[in-house]
Amino acid sequence: MGSDDDFENMAWEIQQKINYDEEKTYSKKVIKEYRNPSNFGFIEKPDATGQIKGSCNDTMKINLKFRNNVIRDARFWTDGCGATIACGNMLMKMVKGKTIKEARFISKKDLLNALDGLPKEHLHCAKLAIDTFRSTLDQLEKKLNRNDHELKY
Ligand code: FES
Repeated sequence: MGSDDDFENMAWEIQQKINYDEEKTYSKKVIKEYRNPSNFGFIEKPDATGQIKGSCNDTMKINLKFRNNVIRDARFWTDGCGATIACGNMLMKMVKGKTIKEARFISKKDLLNALDGLPKEHLHCAKLAIDTFRSTLDQLEKKLNRNDHELKY
């Protein structure tokens, strides 16, 4: 009887403390993105894939689908921290519908602005997302340069 209630109360208190710490550390946008990462996962038969291990030893992978000269779909996967999940998810939202040229212009600063910033110790998570994305664009361009007809229309 009592012990179930005690356990539930304790779990609730721990969750409140976690929420409080998160809210003190991260912007509302960061919390929203990493709690609901709608672009997390993989695309079946992607047109380009990139993967990079960051300075913290965490990895990000990105898959892109490209049609009619624009990025039709973009997904990411990471074993990194919550800030990296937020970066990956926001970046995928930012690149969808863009041409390669437009997407290349998206900088780490643009990503940080879109997330209302990150704590200093997590700035490298935004770099990991941008670096992985640019490496995926490199793969895509290589494929396009090989004249992969299917990708252009
Ligand atoms: Fe390693 Fe964020 S990606 S700490």
